[in-house]
Amino acid sequence: MTDEELLARADAIAARAYAPYSEFHVGCVVLARDGNVIEGVNVENAAYPLGICAERTTFGRAIVEGYRPGDFEVAAITASPCGGCRQWLAEMQVPRVVFRNGGRVVSMTVDELLPEQFDAGDLA
Ligand code: THU
Repeated sequence: MTDEELLARADAIAARAYAPYSEFHVGCVVLARDGNVIEGVNVENAAYPLGICAERTTFGRAIVEGYRPGDFEVAAITASPCGGCRQWLAEMQVPRVVFRNGGRVVSMTVDELLPEQFDAGDLA
């Protein structure tokens, strides 16, 4: 599956976002190494800080389905991932992330998105 195909799926699923407060709909799709695609959207809440980003709903779903960090090939997101979601992408060991940013399509590694990241090794 190409980056453009993954982004097209992310665009399509963004329509299911629950974002009545920001009205900013975000879609995320993750291609797993087994070929399956897991999709997610942002889900907001009247208590604003409780809202959850599209990346996190996606990986939450993936974990429930039985996937684990390292099981993913690429994530495609309709927006630039926020700082917290970059930490999630690092935790999930996603090697590459493709996203839209101001009309451009950007492809980056997690190390580029989040240099010198905090990870399990720091807890040892
Ligand atoms: N949002 C995401 O879903 N992912 C990101 O990485 C950036 C921000 C959502 C959160 C909120 O529902 C809306 O975009 C506006 O910030």
